Amino acid sequence: VNGDAMRIGVLGAGRMAEGLVPHWLKAGHDVMIGGRTPEKARDLATWLGARHGSLRDAADFGEVILLAVLHAGVDSTLRGAGAGDGALAGKVLIDCTNPVEVERFTLTTAPGTSVAEEIAAATGANVVKAFNQVHFHVWLRGARYHDEPLVVPIAGAEAAKAPVFELVRDAGGQPLDAGGTEQALHLEAMAAVIIRLLYGGADPLSAFQLTTGAERPSIAA
Ligand SMILES: NC(=O)c1ccc[n+]([C@@H]2O[C@H](COP(=O)([O-])OP(=O)(O)OC[C@H]3O[C@@H](n4cnc5c(N)ncnc54)[C@H](OP(=O)(O)O)[C@@H]3O)[C@@H](O)[C@H]2O)c1
Repeated sequence: VNGDAMRIGVLGAGRMAEGLVPHWLKAGHDVMIGGRTPEKARDLATWLGARHGSLRDAADFGEVILLAVLHAGVDSTLRGAGAGDGALAGKVLIDCTNPVEVERFTLTTAPGTSVAEEIAAATGANVVKAFNQVHFHVWLRGARYHDEPLVVPIAGAEAAKAPVFELVRDAGGQPLDAGGTEQALHLEAMAAVIIRLLYGGADPLSAFQLTTGAERPSIAA
């Protein structure tokens, strides 16, 4: 799937889909949005100029899958997408979900594991954690800071990284390989810190503004 137009199936018709899908359509990819509420998937897809269908339709359509539902809905969404029938096995699956409760801002996953790993076990997909670090408004506004692209850390299956790197660049970000599947839980924990700051009133566009600094002289120079 690398280097060419990809077929992307989006599971979830919410704000993350709204932020990312327009970039991927503009880059020439073919996108189908599926959701638990068919009218919401249809309305969002129609508005953005994408295809729409059921969760299972989107799972079957995509060679790359974006899972973009609230954490509480992950299990039922995967069931609806046909995970039990192997519909997602071997596919590239981007997991942007954040298992964070918003009273004390702690992870709701069992200690030592991540949603990304749970999804990999439940689906047999090549799962990568990505796009879970910044508010969706960053994608709507454009992910450039100090005239450099925002760094987007990715952790997960090696087999999925090349296409996901491309989709990060298409969305305006700079991909950063943050390691294997065992690192996904750390990206989930980073998001807990960020979500707490956002709920405390931080600007949704603030992110951590991590950039490579490639266009500036290094401190050592
Ligand atoms: N919003 C952000 O800025 C942001 C940034 C980074 C990561 N994330 C993560 O990305 C994921 C999607 O966030 P979002 O803001 O796009 O969410 P959202 O707009 O609230 O909803 C996205 C989708 O989740 C579905 N959903 C919600 N609860 C569900 C449940 N109990 N069972 C099945 N489906 C359910 C919704 O279905 P219905 O339409 O049927 O309600 C909707 O299609 C979340 O895990 C979030 O933590 C969000």
